Amino acid sequence: MEKKKILITGGAGFIGSHVVRLFVNKYPSYLIYNLDKLTYAGNLENLKDVENKSNYKFILGDIADEKFIYDLFSKEQFDGVIHLAAESHVDRSITNPNEFVITNVIGTVNLLNATNNIWKDNKKGKRFYHVSTDEVYGSLGETGYFTEQTAYDPHSPYSASKASSDHFVRAYHDTYGLPVIISNCSNNYGPYQFPEKLIPLFINNIRNNKPLPVYGKGVNIRDWLYVEDHAVAIDEIYHRGEDGETFNIGGHNEWKNIDLIKLLCKVMDNKLNREPGTSEKLITYVTDRAGHDLRYAIDSSKLQKKLGWKPSLQFEEGIEKTVSWYLNNKEWLDNVTSGNYQKYYEKMYSNR
Ligand code: NAD
Ligand code: TYD
Repeated sequence: MEKKKILITGGAGFIGSHVVRLFVNKYPSYLIYNLDKLTYAGNLENLKDVENKSNYKFILGDIADEKFIYDLFSKEQFDGVIHLAAESHVDRSITNPNEFVITNVIGTVNLLNATNNIWKDNKKGKRFYHVSTDEVYGSLGETGYFTEQTAYDPHSPYSASKASSDHFVRAYHDTYGLPVIISNCSNNYGPYQFPEKLIPLFINNIRNNKPLPVYGKGVNIRDWLYVEDHAVAIDEIYHRGEDGETFNIGGHNEWKNIDLIKLLCKVMDNKLNREPGTSEKLITYVTDRAGHDLRYAIDSSKLQKKLGWKPSLQFEEGIEKTVSWYLNNKEWLDNVTSGNYQKYYEKMYSNR
């Protein structure tokens, strides 16, 4: 029997690399294709441990390139797609929204069209999994949670582009019967996250004794989930969810930014053998992010009840693990911050 071909987009990014690793190791009977444009956020060093496995293949390409996507799908006839490729940083979306429309909206629609084309005569066993964010739901006040029924209310260009892509995915299900599934997850943290997002940025700044820029008063709240728990949820949903369904994924782990930052400072002082209180002195309050959502919090009870998933780590444990990973992988961090990681593709793939 031919092996199932699964295309994972954005597999060289933070969450994508964890999903690729999980699928390549867990499913030797699948062929896993990782399609990535290798933007500043894509780093093949994240996948060093699986790059030579026989069920893994990397494809360099842009999901916004309609012809390239159409041709790739016509040639490879994928059985499944797990779509993570995106522009993902809110601050960048404020300075350059167009990139977000091009990749997150047009790129997603190109993938939907190409899948719809190759699966039009036989949808059995096929699945298009769209990985999305809780930010599409907007901002909560002091209380309440986002459920799968919460109305969309995005505020940043990033969340507006993700909301738009979610709507297109559902529209292709309702209009063409495309077998889709969507999940909306809260903030992820863990190894291989690009150090522009809060946790890795602050770990790197503390390590280098640089200021920690806290937006506004540091009172915004995020619900943090360890990235490997997200990858496990994606695996469960991909294999056991039903067509047309949506699942919220979250850690029931809300932290006010300033409390999280103080915890991080404490863990870093400990690991770096610094006097307690040393890293906190780096905290610097800066101008707030425009349109800064106050609070995100996910109700993931559907996923927990229906598929039996739950987060495996307590936050304090996850943060310890994460800090240790970045401190033990200083070369990765230095390569990423210096831009050297972008030469990795040339080195690894120029002779292939
Ligand atoms: P990331 O920015 O670390 O990685 C994105 C990847 O997509 C990179 O490898 C990049 O090279 C690739 N990419 C970007 N544009 C592309 C294009 N046009 N064609 C092909 N590849 C392209 O992002 P992440 O944090 O790993 O997020 C992955 C997905 O999960 C995104 O869809 C994001 O919206 C969603 N998500 C992220 C979080 C989070 O906390 N990071 C939470 C919920 C959902
Ligand atoms: P971020 O990691 O960018 O994720 P998101 O905006 O998608 O939730 O930011 C997490 C929180 O940390 C958010 O409330 C903004 C805040 N933040 C800072 O205070 N300083 C920073 O330098 C960054 C990057 C974020």
